[in-house]
Amino acid sequence: MQQLLVRPENMKRIDSPELAKAYIDEQVAAIQAQVGDGKVLLALSGGVDSSVVAALLIKAIGDRLVAVHVNHGLLRKGEPEQVIEVFRNQMHANLIYVDATDRFLDKLAGVSDPETKRKIIGKEFIDVFAEEARKLQGIRFLAQGTIWPDILESEAGIKAHHNAGGLPADLSFELVEPVRILFKDEVRMVGKTLGLPDGMVYRQPFPGPGLGVRCVGAITRDRLEAVRESDAILREEFAAAGLQGKVWQYFTVVPDMKSTGIRDGKRTDDWMVIIRAVNSVDATSATIEEVPYPLLLKIRDRIFREVKGVNRVLYDLSSKPLATIEYE
Ligand code: XMP
Repeated sequence: MQQLLVRPENMKRIDSPELAKAYIDEQVAAIQAQVGDGKVLLALSGGVDSSVVAALLIKAIGDRLVAVHVNHGLLRKGEPEQVIEVFRNQMHANLIYVDATDRFLDKLAGVSDPETKRKIIGKEFIDVFAEEARKLQGIRFLAQGTIWPDILESEAGIKAHHNAGGLPADLSFELVEPVRILFKDEVRMVGKTLGLPDGMVYRQPFPGPGLGVRCVGAITRDRLEAVRESDAILREEFAAAGLQGKVWQYFTVVPDMKSTGIRDGKRTDDWMVIIRAVNSVDATSATIEEVPYPLLLKIRDRIFREVKGVNRVLYDLSSKPLATIEYE
């Protein structure tokens, strides 16, 4: 049986644990009816949508869900570990973890054009996932974290629906899309009700190409590390200051550019970390968060102390437009 494809016009917004629970029960039954005793494959990024889909499927079919987590080396600090902890250790998922960091970074070496970087990351992701899928036998279903805005946007021609697409022709699956008719806030409510941690359910938007678009220009491992470490400090300090979940999106960027500095009386030639914190409703426009100065200074001090190769910290005052949220 195929899932319900269209959001009914009179469907009530899922804004309470009770409504979420009813939706979960309904979907568990629908998944069981669709899949029977079959197996389901899922690319589990650790983002809200795929995580909620994973949790729903685990509830419905247990270890007949095969979740594949591809670490492309451009994830934030602690992310792959959290996916393993939550899904393998706590929810006992059948989880395949693929550390493909070297593959991605080798392919990206020397590539500075943003769109080429995105294409390489997208293609490599499909290649890695397809290789894993081919190793597995007898899986007829593919689960996807498609949500209702994805459908609306692809209908309106705003963006090509990136899910579903891309897999080579020899890999054809019947789709299982248990959050297809939900809005993002409803997906979060369902995820919370399923017991996923807040850090996963309420996390800020994070682009598919990950830190790759924040390590501006050709990615090098050392500069990528500076992005990852400074981003972790920023997230930690925003959380400690109560800003997590209040500011739409906040991250650091390290451009491929050095400037002169001084450390221990010696001249340095090091990178700069740019802090970006913006508020938005739908990411089509954004205003900057007015981060308190003492917090900025605390973050600066930690970055100087803890992140190698950095001698300047800057705060980005640009709204969207004229700037975009990401740097490339
Ligand atoms: P921009 O930079 O265009 O970003 O103002 C708007 C929102 O989209 C996210 N973003 C991406 N998400 N793949 C994604 O999945 C991408 O290539 C990508 N580029 C930007 C960005 O983080 C922001 O939330």
